[in-house]
Amino acid sequence: MLKTVVLAAGKGSRLKSKTPKVLQPIFDKPLLAWVLDSLAEVEQDEIIVVAGYKAREVSSFLHAYPVTTVIQEPQLGTGHALQCVAEQVQSLRDFDGTILILNGDSPMISSETINELLEFHQSVNADLTLLTVEVKRPKGYGRIIRKGENVVGIIEEKDCSEAERAIREINSGVYCLNWQTMREGLRSLRKDNAQEEFYLTDLVGWAYKQGLQISSYELDNNDEIMGVNTRADLAQVIHKKNQKHLGQLMKGGVTIIDPVSTFISPDVEIGKDTIVFPGTYIHRRVSIGESCNIGPYTSIYGPAEIGSGTTVMHSHVFRSTIGENCTIGPFAHIRDGNDIGNNVKLGSFVEVKNCEISDNVMASHLSYLGDSKIKSGVNIGAGTVTANYDSRTGEKHQTIIRARASTGANSVLVAPIELGENAMVAAGSVITDDVPADSLAIARPRQETKLMQKS
Ligand code: UD1
Ligand code: CA
Repeated sequence: MLKTVVLAAGKGSRLKSKTPKVLQPIFDKPLLAWVLDSLAEVEQDEIIVVAGYKAREVSSFLHAYPVTTVIQEPQLGTGHALQCVAEQVQSLRDFDGTILILNGDSPMISSETINELLEFHQSVNADLTLLTVEVKRPKGYGRIIRKGENVVGIIEEKDCSEAERAIREINSGVYCLNWQTMREGLRSLRKDNAQEEFYLTDLVGWAYKQGLQISSYELDNNDEIMGVNTRADLAQVIHKKNQKHLGQLMKGGVTIIDPVSTFISPDVEIGKDTIVFPGTYIHRRVSIGESCNIGPYTSIYGPAEIGSGTTVMHSHVFRSTIGENCTIGPFAHIRDGNDIGNNVKLGSFVEVKNCEISDNVMASHLSYLGDSKIKSGVNIGAGTVTANYDSRTGEKHQTIIRARASTGANSVLVAPIELGENAMVAAGSVITDDVPADSLAIARPRQETKLMQKS
């Protein structure tokens, strides 16, 4: 029998944020969600989450998870958090099994590690098992105090003597407890420490004095226990998660020229032989095909899809679909809601929004295309603008450009408007009436050329 307690009531004062620490996003996903997701593959009866600071926000996030929420108010320390659990959770009254405890601010822990720890805890038949790790810079973590081989206590950084501060074996904040023997210890906790809090870590000293069996499981991978207390920690966790995902992409056949300057969120998929150039940010449910060139200095925000063989350079793409073998950029702005076909070229300083663009369309330079349907083979001349916005009514109107039509440089299409198949618009025209198929529309003053008088 196993129940898990996730401690998530702390304010996270060191972050200086309006958002509670456990809801800080790491690639869109709150810190706490990373912890809960790592529990998905751990077999257990119940997950109990302790909320406190901005409990309403945390609880409403938790609605999506099948967990029991305990409110800790006020927040008097990690030991107090577990005292609240013991008081409030009915199912713990005569629970005779193991309690796994995790810190809600440590999002790197994997389900493999948790399962290994649980297996170890069962196999040694301990009352308390700690997950520890040896680190180069133990700053900020509780230090593991041993007598010979035996763990006898944990001392928090702020309560450490000089000698204790030098200890490099630290407490990860992950524990397994035998509830029947350890629950007694909760009553023994005192606030007589530097932070005047009830420390959960003091249970270790209590267990030692009671002669209970304490064991420890040492982890090789330091990254997994990283806790987030500061913005710098947050940046480091994001960096680690990013590097891990980039590593997986590279293993899958993607070239990433400069992993240091490339950010790709874990829900992004990229096909083989695609090259990602430096300074590229790809975020939130993006799927990119094979043999694409993405970047340099490009951002893509999903949900978005990019077909194989497409190049996107020095450009921004938001929530759009782009087909195969397209060329986007440099300096194109693909705004929301575009559905772009194959072999399309949207070149320098072209902005498109909410457009349906069929195959083989070219808009090579300096255009704005909004709320438009552009059929296959259309050529958009440099500087063509769809005037889609009626500033009087605030309405947006549609432009339809049928197959193989073309617009001359600097033409304005005042929507709603339609150009028929093979229609042509002369350069510099302001088009306010539909142009039928196979017709040429010229809508600009005729040129006058006059001989100048010599002075
Ligand atoms: C804690 C441990 C420390 C360990 C480190 C690992 C204690 C006393 N110290 O220190 O030994 O090395 O984690 O990351 O436990 N929380 C509550 N209620 C509270 C206070 C905190 O639920 O009243 C929650 C926080 O939201 C957080 C977790 O407990 O998720 C840890 O609290 P935090 O204040 O960050 O403890 P650390 O100083 O990091
Ligand atoms: Ca912490």
